[in-house]
Amino acid sequence: MAPKYKAPRGTQDVLPEVSWRWQRVEAAFREICRRYGYGEIRTPVFEDTELFVHGTGEGTEIVTRQMYSFEDRGGRSLTLRPEGTPSVVRAFLEHGLHSRGVQKFYYIAPIFRYERPQAGRYRQHTQLGVEAIGAPGPDIDAEVIALFHDFLTEISLEGAVTHISSIGCRNCRPALSDALRAFFKPKLDDLCEFCQARYEANPLRILDCGVPADVEARVGAPSALDHICDECRAHFDAVVALLTELDIPHEVDPTIVRGLDYYTRTTFEVVHPSLGAQDVLMGGGRYDGLAEVLGGPATPGIGFGSGLERLLLVLGEEGSSPGPDVYVAAASEEARGPAFKLALELRRAGLSVEIDYIGRALRTQMREANRLRARAVALIGEDEMAAGTVTLRDMATGEQESVPAGQVAERMKSRPGGDGA
Ligand code: HAM
Repeated sequence: MAPKYKAPRGTQDVLPEVSWRWQRVEAAFREICRRYGYGEIRTPVFEDTELFVHGTGEGTEIVTRQMYSFEDRGGRSLTLRPEGTPSVVRAFLEHGLHSRGVQKFYYIAPIFRYERPQAGRYRQHTQLGVEAIGAPGPDIDAEVIALFHDFLTEISLEGAVTHISSIGCRNCRPALSDALRAFFKPKLDDLCEFCQARYEANPLRILDCGVPADVEARVGAPSALDHICDECRAHFDAVVALLTELDIPHEVDPTIVRGLDYYTRTTFEVVHPSLGAQDVLMGGGRYDGLAEVLGGPATPGIGFGSGLERLLLVLGEEGSSPGPDVYVAAASEEARGPAFKLALELRRAGLSVEIDYIGRALRTQMREANRLRARAVALIGEDEMAAGTVTLRDMATGEQESVPAGQVAERMKSRPGGDGA
């Protein structure tokens, strides 16, 4: 019978046979963030809609077309977080953290965007992100890129390429905008209606539009790197020099346009060729004006977000989830009670233990232990109950031994693959 309800389009269930992969990547990210001194921040899944309208930017695709907004019973307009940065900066300001020097955060958070679902693009995805707020210098730019690089090394993800550019600051942005307007002026009628509206307000956005006509119209458009001011140039050169010194492979790529309004100076993306159309594994940059836009004091910031689902797509499906340490098998109905007790004791001793709950035959239990890839089976039958022992079978070698019931945990830990190995 076909199920009556399905997960909404563009969302997915992560079942236990797969979630161990997610946990492995999340644990590696947490570990790298710990080494770099980034602390976890958890912000609400929904925020006032205004936060994203002003923070992410009114003219962005996210705000104009992709937000999941709703009115609560009190008539407030709320929005499911379509990206992490405005929430983190809001929390930073709300808690007065700007008086505490540089603050470094990381998050692993669900993100919601109403997009056309395809491989690597979902309506709910998960971002691994960092935000470093309060430091204006190029070293922190290099640091966040290095952090992501080390994270990819930690999870053995190979073949990713880091692209980096600068889109200037509020002083040099007008010159870049003028150059873009001059370039697009003769093509204005070819642009989509959104880009025609963006032409005056923020022509940089035209470089980011996915409509095919716009993609074609922007071939040969002026490069941001040719229009940035001397201070932005010096900042950018310093970031590139640091990355070179740190041995972090990178390519200067002035065609990067990030789809959010708040970026200033350094912008970067990490792409992976195996991902096809949705090839951006990570994107980020500096946002020195965002805190002010959100009503706080001028505070520099930089960060990135990386789609966990895309990381997993690149990593593929090799490997298998770790099986339980022990499968406790009961040879008879009478042995089920002692087997259940033994399972609990072993769990309390720190082992992962599976057991049968529905009275299956011993042969079926053994088959199940095999399927689960248990390291060992602890068998309890009539003889074992009489002697106060357990027959412990190593599933890799097939070797069996009789072990006093109270010593199974110790015995397991001393075996290869156990804690004590
Ligand atoms: P973003 O480029 O919009 O940046 O998203 C960051 C990453 O999230 C993308 O590079 C991609 O890996 C993943 N991603 C985005 N949309 C989807 C989707 N629909 N399905 C699957 N994965 C997706 C931001 O969100 C900024 N807040 C990043 C940032 C942090 N900039 C500074 N700090």
